[in-house]
Amino acid sequence: MQTSPTLTRALTQPTARTPQHIGIMMDGNGRWARRRGLPRLEGHRHGTQNVQRALDACARHGIRVVTLYVFSTENWGRPKEEIDGFFKILGDVIESATRDFHAQGVRLIHSGSLDGIPARLAAQVRRAVELTRANDRYVLNVAFNYGGRMEMLRAAREILGAGIAPDALSEQTVDQYLYTAGLGDMDLVIRTGGEQRLSNFFPWQAAHGVFYSTPTLWPDFDEAELVRALDFYARCVAASGLARK
Ligand code: IPE
Ligand code: IPE
Ligand code: MG
Repeated sequence: MQTSPTLTRALTQPTARTPQHIGIMMDGNGRWARRRGLPRLEGHRHGTQNVQRALDACARHGIRVVTLYVFSTENWGRPKEEIDGFFKILGDVIESATRDFHAQGVRLIHSGSLDGIPARLAAQVRRAVELTRANDRYVLNVAFNYGGRMEMLRAAREILGAGIAPDALSEQTVDQYLYTAGLGDMDLVIRTGGEQRLSNFFPWQAAHGVFYSTPTLWPDFDEAELVRALDFYARCVAASGLARK
């Protein structure tokens, strides 16, 4: 990922029809590579490089909270060489990307478990979260080794462990026990790569959200694609009156 000035420039002010929190299921890296006769890992490399471009586009459109699906708990089912290669790509970019994000005022949040993640990469993730903790211009929530059911089980265990009485349990309390505590509901979920599956992606947070699927493969997702997704969202909001409170 390269340093980009966009996140530090003046921003579009969000309107009632701008989603505040969007989630992106970055799918289609493998197909992107296959269509070019390249190894799958080249798709992951280009997909990883596309993150900064996508975040710049989000910033230009007034979006302050973005959740990215980087690696799901189900993705452990892939061949070991692909997983190892993908983690290596992440390890290669995380240090410089963290520095850039920090300079841009981005707070990094990690949703997911670091169990099973190579020790060096896990430490880099922890450091990125720690370094950017006080930033408040944007939030980038990285769903890495994340699964929605795992997150809800973890929340349930912690709630029970805290001794919260059944009658005292509210939706607000559950929210506080999720990785995304304080981030607010996910208004729009974009899935690239054309599938319509929800794939265990933030079932609680996206419960009232709009789902948008585009056939565009993740490495090709650009600002024009984002604008199409935002237009779709605005039309859904207008049709249903489901504007964020
Ligand atoms: C998404 O791209 C990236 C990850 C899940 C890590 P894929 O690797 O799923 O690409 P396709 O769906 O096979 O094209
Ligand atoms: C979803 O993509 C997960 C990520 C984008 C990280 P997959 O390609 O793993 O999707 P499913 O599990 O096949 O639906
Ligand atoms: Mg896929």
